[in-house]
Amino acid sequence: MNKIGLKSLSRLHPCNLALVYRYFSKVIGGNRALAHFLAYYVKPCPGDRLLDVGCGPGRLAENLPPGVDYVGIDSNELDISWARQKFQGMNGRDFRCCRLEEISAAESGFDIILMSGLLHHLSDPEHGWRVLLTLLRPGGFMNIGLYSELARQNVVGAREFIARRGYGHTVEDIRACRQAIITIQGDAPWRSVLRWTDFYSTSACRDLIFHVQEHRFTIPRIKAFLTNNGLAFIGFNIDPRTLARYRKRFLDDPAAVNLDFWDVFEHENPDTFSGMYQFCVQKP
Ligand SMILES: C[S@@+](CC[C@H](N)C(=O)[O-])C[C@H]1O[C@@H](n2cnc3c(N)ncnc32)[C@H](O)[C@@H]1O
Repeated sequence: MNKIGLKSLSRLHPCNLALVYRYFSKVIGGNRALAHFLAYYVKPCPGDRLLDVGCGPGRLAENLPPGVDYVGIDSNELDISWARQKFQGMNGRDFRCCRLEEISAAESGFDIILMSGLLHHLSDPEHGWRVLLTLLRPGGFMNIGLYSELARQNVVGAREFIARRGYGHTVEDIRACRQAIITIQGDAPWRSVLRWTDFYSTSACRDLIFHVQEHRFTIPRIKAFLTNNGLAFIGFNIDPRTLARYRKRFLDDPAAVNLDFWDVFEHENPDTFSGMYQFCVQKP
């Protein structure tokens, strides 16, 4: 496949771009599609700037070709020092320990911004999202991951259970709560949290059902933000089988970019976004 840089990619009409994005999601599979979309199609050119917000230990930086100007930020010092060690001496990999709210406007002009699993833990997610948009250049892309209200109904139930029983956030409380959820009698649908592997690791379980702050999104809420901020929806990063089912259901939307249709689809299939809404938007 010919190399196509970001600059030429951004000249494509959003619908064509959406088809390309869909193709990669289809061929490669949901979870890894983003990395492959970046590495094998977008192929950020040397000199392109990429901001990875909530970069953790910098997993994404491993998938990028050299020459891309990568900035990873995370509020977790351990993750940042781990990432710095791993990429020590490699040009174009810059890891900073800071909060998204502290990024300076002097950092603007990024070609791509990635941000998964972070906005929904802020006190005002839309505000954080707007702050990041100011850092994106016109025509740039942003990939976002957000919790779904519909898909996380079991988490809502578990959180209510935790509040009713008054469990705290200590390791002992998390373990005791887990034991209680495993052994309680009855058929409460929210006990489907037991199916998630995160439930069985204390730190992941804390993130899953004990997080101090969790906003959950709906597709209309996402659509409202995109409309109010003039963003083009490029597509969901979703597994190919789900995408095929969507296309079969909505023959009028081969690019799979109609958010009203996706809302109907999600109501018909409430587990669709159990791994978060993962999607790409473009700034005009
Ligand atoms: C779901 S994790 C994503 C980790 C990483 N992207 C990966 O794939 O391994 C979210 C990350 O956001 C970081 N984080 C949470 N709130 C933040 C904030 N306000 N500013 C910057 N980073 C934050 C956390 O420390 C965590 O590493």
